[in-house]
Amino acid sequence: MTVAPVKPEVQGLFDPATWTVTYIVYDKPGSACAIIDSVLDYDPKSGRTRTDSADRVIDFVKAKGLKVEWILDTHAHADHLTAAPYLKQKLGGKIAIGEHITGVQQVFKGIFHLEPEFATDGSQFDHLLKDGEAFAIGELSGQVMFVPGHTPACVAYRVGDAVFVGDTLFMPDVGTARCDFPGGDAKTLYQSTRRILSLPDDTRLFMCHDYPPDGRPVEFETTVAVQRRTNIHVHDGITEQAFVEMRTKRDATLEMPVLILPSVQVNIRAGEMPPKEANGVAYLKIPVNAL
Ligand SMILES: [Fe+2]
Repeated sequence: MTVAPVKPEVQGLFDPATWTVTYIVYDKPGSACAIIDSVLDYDPKSGRTRTDSADRVIDFVKAKGLKVEWILDTHAHADHLTAAPYLKQKLGGKIAIGEHITGVQQVFKGIFHLEPEFATDGSQFDHLLKDGEAFAIGELSGQVMFVPGHTPACVAYRVGDAVFVGDTLFMPDVGTARCDFPGGDAKTLYQSTRRILSLPDDTRLFMCHDYPPDGRPVEFETTVAVQRRTNIHVHDGITEQAFVEMRTKRDATLEMPVLILPSVQVNIRAGEMPPKEANGVAYLKIPVNAL
C-alpha cells in the first residue's frame, strides 16, 4: 500500500518586471509557511528599490494568517534582487539557501573585488541547506534537492507532492534555464533535470520563471509527466549530448540579464546592500569588461 503524498497549498505571485514567480507554500490558513524566491523591485536607471512585489507577498501572508518559518531562495539569482531581508524584518522567519552558495560567493568576491571583510562562508544567511536535508514548515516537511547546472549552488525544494524547481526546467514550451553564468554547466543541468523528472509522474512542478511565447498567458505550474512528454529541451528521449549541444549553442546567443550586476552583488549577501561608504551611501559596482 502506498501512502498518498501530502498536497500543500501553493500560492504563486508573478512579478511581471522580472518574469519571476514568488511562492508561498503552506498547509492551511493560519498555519506555518515558507516563502520561496521573493523579489525586491530595483530600477537600474536610478538605483532605487521598491517593495511592491514583496508587499504583495506580505498581504497574502497576512490575509491567510500564516506564520513565516522560512524565507528561501533556490539560488543567487542573476535577474532580480531577493527581498529576503525585508520580508524577514516584516514577517520573521529564517533566510536559507543551498550550502554551495559559498563557492558562488568566492567567485563573485573575486569578480567584483569585494571588500576583504566580505565573508565567503555563507554566514550572511541564517542557515545553509544540504542535499537531502529535511526542514519543517509547521506540520509540513520540506526536503532539499541539489539541482546544479544553471549555477553550481542551485537547489529545488520538495514539499509533499510539490517541487519548486528554481532555474532548471521552465514551462514545456520554453524548455530549460541557461548554463553560461560563472560555474554553470549544461551537462550538470541535464543531470539535474533528470533527477527532477525521475519523481512520480503526478508531482506538481512550480517554475521560478515564465517567459511565455507570444499569445500564451503566463503559466508556472506543470507536472513531471507533462514535462517528460513535451518539454522542448529535455523530453524523454533527448540525450545528454544532444541537450548539451543545443544548450551551448543557444546560450551563446543570449544577452546578459539587465539586472545581473546588481542582483549578484546583493543576492550573495543574502539580500543586504554592500556596506555604506564614508558618506553614508552604499554603492554597487560595474566591472568594466569583466563579465
Ligand atoms: Fe537564475
